[in-house]
Amino acid sequence: MFEKIHHLGYAVEDLEAASRFYQERFGARLEEPETVADQGVKAVMFRVGESRVELLEPTHPDSPVGKFLAKRGEGLHHVAFQVEDIEGRLAQLERGGVELIDESPRVGVGGTRMAFVHPKSAFGVLTELVEPDGGPASKPDG
Ligand code: CO
Repeated sequence: MFEKIHHLGYAVEDLEAASRFYQERFGARLEEPETVADQGVKAVMFRVGESRVELLEPTHPDSPVGKFLAKRGEGLHHVAFQVEDIEGRLAQLERGGVELIDESPRVGVGGTRMAFVHPKSAFGVLTELVEPDGGPASKPDG
């Protein structure tokens, strides 16, 4: 099912400070910041080989990342695995009794299609499935 680790999501208090840190200390080449209103986050990504790190700052304290920060502080928020046919994978997981946060894909950072698997069903790790660019089977209307 998994093709590769697409990205790691970090919850940060200050997106600008975190961006500057990775840029100045590690030479990261940052992509354009993006706001995903639906998820209540501002995000910046940078590449690490064929994977990426996704820095996430909540746009408001009641968003999932805002609540995560309040409860656990900054740190690793989720791991995102790249898959093909995300609907098929979600249906398969659901049939297998895996608890999903998103039963159907949403639009994520970078226009990807993504869905979260509940950490309760994944050994405490919030797990994202992501299909970049809508995937090979994407349709213009989909
Ligand atoms: Co993510």
